[in-house]
Amino acid sequence: MKLTKVVTAAALFTFATAGSALAFHSGGVAECEGCHSMHNSFEGSANVTGMAQYQSGPFLLKAQDQSGACLNCHQSADTAPSGYHISTAGVTPLDSTTPVEMTPGGDFAWLKKTMNGSIRKTATTWDGDRHGHNIVAVDFGYTADKTLTAAPGGTYPATNLACSSCHDPHGRYRRFADGTYASTGLPIFASGSYVTSADPIANVSAAGAYRILGGIGYQPKSLAGSFAFSANPPSAVAPSSYNGINTTIAGTFDRVAYGNGMSEWCANCHTAMHIDSYTSGQKGLVHPAGNGAKLTAPIAANYAAYVSSGIMTGTGAGYSALAPFEVGGGATIADYTALKAFQATPVAPTVTNNVLCLSCHRAHASGFESMARYYLGNEFMTVADASNAGMYDTSTTENKINTGYSTTQQTNAYNGRPATLFGPWARNYCNKCHAKD
Ligand code: HEC
Ligand code: HEC
Ligand code: HEC
Ligand code: HEC
Ligand code: HEC
Ligand code: HEC
Repeated sequence: MKLTKVVTAAALFTFATAGSALAFHSGGVAECEGCHSMHNSFEGSANVTGMAQYQSGPFLLKAQDQSGACLNCHQSADTAPSGYHISTAGVTPLDSTTPVEMTPGGDFAWLKKTMNGSIRKTATTWDGDRHGHNIVAVDFGYTADKTLTAAPGGTYPATNLACSSCHDPHGRYRRFADGTYASTGLPIFASGSYVTSADPIANVSAAGAYRILGGIGYQPKSLAGSFAFSANPPSAVAPSSYNGINTTIAGTFDRVAYGNGMSEWCANCHTAMHIDSYTSGQKGLVHPAGNGAKLTAPIAANYAAYVSSGIMTGTGAGYSALAPFEVGGGATIADYTALKAFQATPVAPTVTNNVLCLSCHRAHASGFESMARYYLGNEFMTVADASNAGMYDTSTTENKINTGYSTTQQTNAYNGRPATLFGPWARNYCNKCHAKD
C-alpha cells in the first residue's frame, strides 16, 4: 500500500511535468491517463490508488471509485488554501486547524467534522454528514450520507453521489457565442469559468461550461435508471484566483458573479426545492430561488444598506459573497460582459437580480449544517471581546455558536474572514436581505 502511494505520486509528477501543471482539463476533456490507467502498470509497478498491479478501478480509473480518481489531484495535505484543491487531507474531528481550502464551492473535508460539544449543559453531536454533499471516495475516507438516502426533493441516490454526478469528467458541455449549450459541436478552446476566460467565437470555437458541469441529458454511464439532467450548466464567472484568505465581506477569492440558471441546475436533482414565482404569505411554498425569483425593492434596499446587526448605514454596493444573488437578465442567456464587470466590481442589487440556492448554500460543503454559507444554529455568528469588538466564540463548555470549532476553524468556515468584519454579536446573514434585527 505504501509502495502504491509513492509510485502514484511519482507517476503524477511525471504527468504534471509532461504538460503544464496548471492546465489539466482546459475546459474540456483532459489527458485520458490523468484519470485512467490502461494496465495499472507503469515502470513495472502499480500506479493506481488502492489497487494492485494489472487491476485498475471501475472504468479503468486510477482509484477504487470515480471520486477517488479526482481526489488524486484535488485533495492535498495543505496547511493554507492552495490552487484547485477542494479537499484537505488528514482531517480528523479533534484537530483544531483544518479544513483549510477556501474555494467558492467549499472544502469537502468539513464532512469529516462530526463535532461533540454541549448546549445548555446537554451533550450534543453535530453530524459531519450535514456539512455537504457526501461524495463516495473510499481511498480518501469519504462515505455516503448515513441519513439522506436520496437527494431531498428528488430521487438521485446518495450511494452514487460522486464528483462525476455533477461535473462531466470528460468536460463535453460547451457554451457557444450565442449563449446556448451542447455536448458536441465546435471545439472547446479553454475553460469558460473565469473573469479572464476568452469569449467563444461564433462558428469558430466554444468555451467550456462553467466548472465543466453536466448539462441537459447528462447522466454517468455507471448510474442505472432515469436521472438525466433537464437543465443546462449555469452561467457564472469566477475570479482567476479562487482559493485564498478573504479579508473583506465582498470577498476576493470566493466572489463568483452568478449570472443565471444555478438554481435550475441544482433542481436537476432537487426538483421540489425549486420554485420560480413567489407570493408573499401564501402557504405551500419553499423559499424562492431561480431565474424568476427576483429580489423585491425593499429587499434590494436592505441588502445595500445592511452593514451588520442594527447598522443600516451602508453606502455603495454592500455586496457580500456570503449572501450572493444572481445578476439575472435574459431568460436563459446571460451577458458575460456584464458578468465579468460585476465580478471585478459588484454593484448594489436591484429588482432584476435573483435569489439562488447559493444565496444560502455552498455547492460542495461548508462548516455549517445543511451546507449553509454561515451558521444558522444560533441567532449569532459572533460574540464580543472585552473591548466589545467582534470575535468568534471561544467557549469550551457551551458550544452554541462554535459547535466545537476553534477560532481558526470558525475563521476558515467563513473563508478566512475575521470576526471583526461582522462586528460583535452579529446576527446571521438572512438579515442581509431581510434586516430583521
Ligand atoms: C478528469 C478525469 C477523466 C479524464 C481526464 C478522462 N476520463 Fe474517462 N472517465 C472518467 C470517469 C470518472 C469515468 C466514469 C464515469 C461513470 O461513472 O460512468 C470515466 C469513464 C470513461 C469511459 C466509460 C464510460 C463512458 O462514459 O463511456 C470511457 C470509455 C472513458 N472514460 C474514456 C476516456 C478517454 C478516451 C479519455 C481521454 C480522451 C478520458 N476518458 C479521460 C474520468 C476521466
Ligand atoms: C491529474 C490531476 C487532475 C485530476 C485527476 C483531476 N483534476 Fe481537476 N483540475 C486539475 C488542475 C491542475 C486544475 C486547474 C487547471 C485546469 O482547470 O485545467 C483542475 C481544475 C478543475 C476544475 C475547474 C475547471 C474549470 O475550467 O473551471 C474542476 C471543476 C475539476 N478540476 C474537476 C475535476 C473532476 C470532477 C475530476 C475527476 C473526474 C478531476 N478534476 C480530476 C487537475 C486534476
Ligand atoms: C452536487 C454537485 C457537485 C459535486 C458532487 C461536486 N461538485 Fe465541484 N462544483 C460544483 C459547483 C456547482 C461548483 C461551482 C461553485 C461556485 O462557483 O459557487 C463546483 C466547483 C468546483 C471546483 C472549482 C473550485 C470551487 O470550489 O469553486 C472544483 C475544482 C471542483 N468543483 C471539483 C470537484 C471535485 C474534485 C469533486 C468531488 C470530490 C466535486 N467537485 C464534486 C458542483 C459539484
Ligand atoms: C447530481 C445530483 C445533485 C445535484 C446536481 C445537486 N445535489 Fe444536492 N444533494 C444530492 C444528494 C444525493 C444529496 C443527499 C446526500 C448528501 O447529503 O450527501 C444532496 C444533499 C443536499 C443538501 C443537504 C446537505 C445535508 O447533508 O444536509 C443540500 C443543502 C443540497 N444538496 C444543496 C444542493 C445545491 C445548492 C445544489 C446546486 C449547487 C445541489 N444540491 C445540486 C444530489 C445533488
Ligand atoms: C439574497 C436575498 C435573500 C436571502 C439571503 C434570504 N432571503 Fe428570504 N426572501 C428573499 C426574497 C426575495 C423573498 C420573497 C419576498 C417577497 O416576495 O416579499 C424571500 C422570502 C422569505 C420569506 C417569506 C416571506 C413572505 O413574505 O412570504 C421568509 C420567511 C424568508 N425569506 C426567510 C429567510 C431566511 C430565514 C433566510 C436565511 C436562511 C433568508 N430568507 C435569506 C430574499 C432573501
Ligand atoms: C434563503 C436561504 C435558502 C435558499 C435560497 C435555499 N435554501 Fe436550501 N436550505 C436552507 C436552510 C436554512 C435549510 C435547513 C432546513 C430548512 O430550513 O428547511 C435548507 C435545507 C436544504 C436541503 C436539505 C433538506 C433536508 O431534508 O435535510 C436541501 C437539499 C436544500 N436546502 C436544497 C436547496 C436548493 C436546491 C435550493 C435552490 C433551489 C435551496 N436549497 C435554496 C436555506 C436555503
